[in-house]
Amino acid sequence: MTLEEKASLCSGASAWSTQAITRLGIPSIYMTDGTHGLRKSVGFDFKNSIPATCFPTASGIASSWNKELLEKIGKAIATEAQANDVQIVLGPGINMKRSPLGGRNFEYYSEDPVLSGKMAAAFIQGLQKNGVGASLKHFAANNQEFERMSVNAIIDERTLNEIYFPAFEIAVKEAQPWTVMCAYNKLNGTFASENEYLLTSVLKKQWGYQGFVVSDWGAVNDRVLGVQAGLNLEMPASGGYNTKKIIEAVTNKSLSESQLDALVTETLAITLKAKENHSENVVVDKALHHALAREASGESIVLLKNSKSILPLKVGTKKIAIIGTFAKKPRYQGAGSSQVNPTQLENPFDEINKIFNSSSITFAEGYNSLGETNASLTAEAVKVAKGAEVVLLFAGLPDVYESESYDRANLDMPSGHNQLIKAIAKVNQNTIVILMNGASVSMPWKNEVAGIVEMYLAGQAAGGGIADILSGKVNPSGKLSESFPIRLEDTPTANDFPSKEGVSNYGEGIYIGYRYYDKKKIETNFPFGFGLSYTHFSFSTINTNALHYKDNDPIVVTLKVKNTGNVFGKEVVQLYVHEQETAVTRPENELKHFEKVALAPGEEKTIQFELSYRDFAYYNSNTHHWQVNSGKFDIRIGNSSRNLPLQQTVYIESTTKDIPVFTRNSLFKEFKNVKNSQAIYEVLSESFIDKSTKAVTEDQKKAEAFLYSMLGDMPVSKFVLLSGGKFTEEQLQAILNDANTN
Ligand code: BGC
Repeated sequence: MTLEEKASLCSGASAWSTQAITRLGIPSIYMTDGTHGLRKSVGFDFKNSIPATCFPTASGIASSWNKELLEKIGKAIATEAQANDVQIVLGPGINMKRSPLGGRNFEYYSEDPVLSGKMAAAFIQGLQKNGVGASLKHFAANNQEFERMSVNAIIDERTLNEIYFPAFEIAVKEAQPWTVMCAYNKLNGTFASENEYLLTSVLKKQWGYQGFVVSDWGAVNDRVLGVQAGLNLEMPASGGYNTKKIIEAVTNKSLSESQLDALVTETLAITLKAKENHSENVVVDKALHHALAREASGESIVLLKNSKSILPLKVGTKKIAIIGTFAKKPRYQGAGSSQVNPTQLENPFDEINKIFNSSSITFAEGYNSLGETNASLTAEAVKVAKGAEVVLLFAGLPDVYESESYDRANLDMPSGHNQLIKAIAKVNQNTIVILMNGASVSMPWKNEVAGIVEMYLAGQAAGGGIADILSGKVNPSGKLSESFPIRLEDTPTANDFPSKEGVSNYGEGIYIGYRYYDKKKIETNFPFGFGLSYTHFSFSTINTNALHYKDNDPIVVTLKVKNTGNVFGKEVVQLYVHEQETAVTRPENELKHFEKVALAPGEEKTIQFELSYRDFAYYNSNTHHWQVNSGKFDIRIGNSSRNLPLQQTVYIESTTKDIPVFTRNSLFKEFKNVKNSQAIYEVLSESFIDKSTKAVTEDQKKAEAFLYSMLGDMPVSKFVLLSGGKFTEEQLQAILNDANTN
């Protein structure tokens, strides 16, 4: 392969395809968006793509906590990709929900890395089992839309490793996506597209990633730096501009050809695999995929409030008032590159009518398409509500409130929706609010309504999905994959989101989502992991295979979960870990495992989880390693982050030698507790404290204690400067060597 050919493979051939080299039989492959459905369009015309099944968007589908369902959806999207000659689907998106205001939160799974990582892995496995590659995106720290192409995310090493990396790490290790898409933004000063630490050290070397890295569309800054950092493919095509740059760089030896070879080899391996996996003449069963979209929507919907068991609607309920424009024109997906042109669209009004078959279902719009209401719209809705046994009030966020490319300004729904809900709740005590929105919203009317159902953006079968839930055909089993804060002021990034002067300082560190609300003991409207059912579940009999472990022993936890009600239902068993006495700041609880279980009335099942080192470890930025400290850990199990009725305490003994890394800036007192350190400590202290005279009087003892305390907090390098020559730089270096090798 010539240098020109190699360089040409580092950029795309068009908006969506890669470069072919006919002479060598290298094919071109085609990519399209697809976080919740295929969007194959001509150029960048978002609105005109081929019809494809629109599944619930990520925030909805993550609320299913159902890995098998994610795999099934992945498979279905792959089938549609095969039928349309697409080899790579640009999804899933797994950036963490650092703030509820993130404009693309509807397209991301969660505020928790384990939930996001596991959902993503299942989706990727589904796609790739059917021969289509995934593109895991956006790596990394693309957590806001404002100035997304230039913002510099400043994140400390521990926070990156504990919050912003693990979802990617889980998905990469468990599912090996064929491609990973780098983010637009900078991370700690360097664009993700030329960030060697991200793309090579962490992704390819530490995690053993075997696919190729593609740029987000237009994310390349300096293509040559990108090659050096490990960015395999630039998308879309840059019209030969960057191919030339690469050729020049290799020719003038500022880029090594072997580095280019390595990248091209990685790209080619996936390109050939993609072509090998392509199936001809695939036919999509649209009805079957629509049925899956309906199942997915039912499985994702979260029942948040159900006073007096108002839901499911009683058989024979006659006078149902349906209020809200969304009931007839549902908001079912978000805007931007993920927008799918659905194969069909169900609306809640028609689907509820089909199930209840009632001649006395009444309807009022309540608000216009922008979410505004007025005296006559409200009066009409109030009139309809007054005459009904129950009101189903559809509300949420209109399209313009959340989208790719801008963030939300606040947590509020349109004031028209809020006013309408309050007015209706006043005249009908059986008002159920049904929400269509991609992310959490504030709920100033929470205590005034009888029921709240969170639909999220439930895809093309949103109508059927909600009708199934309201009628009880499907028992709700969704659990929030994000916290619902009461006020914006309560959120971890309230003062710091999105960014100022091009910089986003992640000052809240590891405390995002429930980690923050729990630590600060802040009440939320609804906590992470929460969701009601039409039945009840009990948790019992937690056991571990021992009580005392070494940190690398596997820990097996079992428990029982029982359906104590009288209808079939599904429960999400959630396992969190809490460290009792921590050496470093740690969250109150961290989700480590979960399992969705289906149970018939009266049925009980035993659930088993296997825990390992990482489930107890924190990331130590001094040693750059995961570390478990010896001590007691509580394993807590339940059905939301704030309802964990089962607890088992285990003792874990650390097997890693506790070797702090000593530097010139290590504090004097730190040398005291290091193995074989007494000698080192003596040398340092003697250079300062006159040991020939012993402190005898109270005053002398006080003075000595003062001196020790002051010196204890001093970086050891200061001893060289302040000891008046008694303690030299050479001695210091020798001591550091000793301390670090002991
Ligand atoms: C988005 C990506 C998307 C790409 C291609 C970008 O603007 O950030 O998520 O895959 O466009 O449409």
